[in-house]
Amino acid sequence: MGFTTSANKREGTPVKANDLQLLQCFSILKIKLQLWAILLLMALSQSEAFDPLDPFGNITIKWDVVSWTADGYVASVIMNNYQMYRHINTPGWTLGWNWAKKEVIWSIVGAQATEQGDCSKFKGNVPHCCKKNPIIVDLLPGVPYNQQYANCCKGGVVASWGQDPSAAVSAFQVSVGVAGTSNKTLKLPKDFVLMGPGPGYTCGPAEVVPSTVFFTPDHRRKTQALMTWTVTCTYSQILSSKYPICCVSFSSFYNETMTPCPSCACGCHNKKDCIMSDSKRLTTLGINTPKKDNTPLLQCTHHMCPIRVHWHVKINYRDYWRVKIAVTNFNYRMNYTQWTLVAQHPNLNNVTQVFSFDYKPLVPYQAINDTAMFYGMKFYNDLLMEAGPLGNVQSEVLLRKDKTTFTLKQGWGFPRKIYFNGDECKLPPPDSYPFLPNSAHEIPSFYSTMVAIILSLLINIMM
Ligand SMILES: *[C@@H]1O[C@H](CO)[C@@H](O)[C@H](O)[C@H]1NC(C)=O
Ligand SMILES: *[C@@H]1O[C@H](CO)[C@@H](O)[C@H](O)[C@H]1NC(C)=O
Ligand SMILES: *[C@@H]1O[C@H](CO)[C@@H](O)[C@H](O)[C@H]1NC(C)=O
Ligand SMILES: *[C@@H]1O[C@H](CO)[C@@H](O)[C@H](O)[C@H]1NC(C)=O
Ligand SMILES: *[C@@H]1O[C@H](CO)[C@@H](O)[C@H](O)[C@H]1NC(C)=O
Ligand SMILES: *[C@@H]1O[C@H](CO)[C@@H](O)[C@H](O)[C@H]1NC(C)=O
Repeated sequence: MGFTTSANKREGTPVKANDLQLLQCFSILKIKLQLWAILLLMALSQSEAFDPLDPFGNITIKWDVVSWTADGYVASVIMNNYQMYRHINTPGWTLGWNWAKKEVIWSIVGAQATEQGDCSKFKGNVPHCCKKNPIIVDLLPGVPYNQQYANCCKGGVVASWGQDPSAAVSAFQVSVGVAGTSNKTLKLPKDFVLMGPGPGYTCGPAEVVPSTVFFTPDHRRKTQALMTWTVTCTYSQILSSKYPICCVSFSSFYNETMTPCPSCACGCHNKKDCIMSDSKRLTTLGINTPKKDNTPLLQCTHHMCPIRVHWHVKINYRDYWRVKIAVTNFNYRMNYTQWTLVAQHPNLNNVTQVFSFDYKPLVPYQAINDTAMFYGMKFYNDLLMEAGPLGNVQSEVLLRKDKTTFTLKQGWGFPRKIYFNGDECKLPPPDSYPFLPNSAHEIPSFYSTMVAIILSLLINIMM
């Protein structure tokens, strides 16, 4: 489009509405800039802590000082998960930091420090925690009402923003002593460490931001925090685990060959501890009990992944086509609650119907609509059960064909990326995709398409 317009302009094609032309130029420029931004972001994605499918995803921890006390302050700490499809599963988050001076925690409502530390200096009232580097965890559900705080006490489980914004939050209140008692003398805590529940998050420094404005419950009066600071944490899969945690397999109606997950897709380091699906050990009591450190007990497979996602190209109609998606759990010690699945495929801009999963399009860049998020329906299949006969969930997706791009050739019908619970899954190598009979043995067109797009962009920009 950009090409023809600039060519026309050069040849001096008369354009009656000058404004229109100007407008067109602007919109073309805008699209170009957008695409450049996307390419830039894609390049950046090679570095850590950047997810191209959720470029703005982060967890923001906000401290609002709600009152000054004789020797410090009381702050409300609220953690918002702004990641579209990455939640914090059981056993929940832990949050740590270093105090700047000799601060102590007098008390916490809605959470607790894992260790009290050495409070021997204190007579009479003893603080809740005297450690220089306190580590805080959420309380479990069901604590007495008077120990609760709004959005607390969920065992540290926080939903993803895309799935349930109202549950993508966790909060507690902390009373800090031996601390500054004004916004001039208060020193911000530093070196924040967030685990959710495993490693993977990197937190930036605390930064003072404009004070939060609150409304009274009847919305008739505004109040304001005395001081507010935020800490932003981002996720990186490389920091989270050395190996993928899921793999993808393919099949199709037009070719009997199934393309399995790559062998050792998730590393075969724990192969010696795996368990055959027909093992007698599976009938022992407590075999499904999760370990404290979440060590998995995997079913023996050639891929050794806890999760496999299978994508089956099921039916080709005249105007539509249908895909079946199945997710299988191979971990005997894990129930996945509030699981999410993200798929990237160019035809996901024309999703017509999704059966038995909830669905949401993800459009992080306005120009590209090729990513979808799927998750379980509440009380139906939002729990992916431990490995075994019940350890799977499945759905079918009906897509309206875009006649110009739709093809069964060259593996076009298979996804470009799959994420489970926010971690990217290992795809089979491109030359192993099920072929359409009689079609040449070719690599899927995705890469060549990308190259073509980049080339045309370069040409466009140089014009
Ligand atoms: C964190 O996410 C929020 C919501 O998407 C966004 O407004 C904010 O700019 C993000 N912060 C950073 C530091 O990326
Ligand atoms: C500190 O408090 C004073 C009033 O007590 C206010 O004028 C000032 O803006 C505050 N500074 C910050 C950084 O919040
Ligand atoms: C998974 O959930 C079922 C039903 O709630 C329960 O019986 C089982 O023990 C759980 N398994 C794990 C590994 O937590
Ligand atoms: C993206 O595609 C989905 C699925 O067809 C559609 O519902 C949604 O409106 C599209 N969004 C944009 C911004 O084009
Ligand atoms: C598919 O979606 C795109 C953008 O969302 C739209 O422009 C196009 O008309 C759709 N194609 C069909 C066949 O519905
Ligand atoms: C099915 O696909 C495989 C590659 O996965 C290919 O080797 C085989 O020839 C295909 N079968 C037919 C009948 O084309």
